[in-house]
Amino acid sequence: MKHDVIVALDFPSAPDACAFLDLFREEKPFVKVGMELFYAEGPRIVREIKARGHQIFLDLKLHDIPNTVKSAMRVLSRLDADMVNLHAAGTKDMMRAALEGLIREDGTRPILLAVTQLTSTSEERMRNELLISASMPDTVRAYARNARDAGLDGVVCSPLEAALVKDACGPGFVTVTPGIRFADSAADDQTRIMTPEKARLGGSDYIVVGRPITRAQDPVAAYRRCVKEFLG
Ligand code: C5P
Repeated sequence: MKHDVIVALDFPSAPDACAFLDLFREEKPFVKVGMELFYAEGPRIVREIKARGHQIFLDLKLHDIPNTVKSAMRVLSRLDADMVNLHAAGTKDMMRAALEGLIREDGTRPILLAVTQLTSTSEERMRNELLISASMPDTVRAYARNARDAGLDGVVCSPLEAALVKDACGPGFVTVTPGIRFADSAADDQTRIMTPEKARLGGSDYIVVGRPITRAQDPVAAYRRCVKEFLG
């Protein structure tokens, strides 16, 4: 099983993202391109970052009817992203269709992850607005199992849920966890946070880290600290 730190490139434009990447002269961090940067710059930003030698998690969280998701995944797999995702709430049929769409002509495909429940959704909102009466752990466990049964590689979840997912789906099922903070850094708007070291001990295979690195005075030093704490 691979382990790595994924840096969230939450920037509004390609020049901002590239100026940040230019700071890294020795390392080529694994990066996450989310909706903001992708919608601002389009597919070319993925090609450009790949050409610079980075691995990319394309965090677009697809959720639509199976045929539409399959077609969209076919297009995304041609961008040569290394990891992509969707919402497990789209059902197993949608997840299986996504997987089919992702397979490239040479038989390879990106890692496919499912979002179980967004970490911004509380159990109360899940019950009152989404009408899901099961507890958060039971919901996360059930959605993760659906993803595994559909053939997906893993899930994006809270670091607090990584152990539960591993328990339910096996040690080889990948866990990617945002909500990471150094012991001495600001929580920002994240409420359920963990340090890199605790995340690793708790079963996270990859951690997604944004502001503690992108907004640090010395982002390269912060990245190195994060790698050291996470990988030991
Ligand atoms: O700056 P910060 O470390 O909080 O960034 C976390 C990144 O992970 C952001 O890009 C955010 O959108 C993403 N994310 C998250 N919680 C989730 C899913 C994704 O924080 N449940």
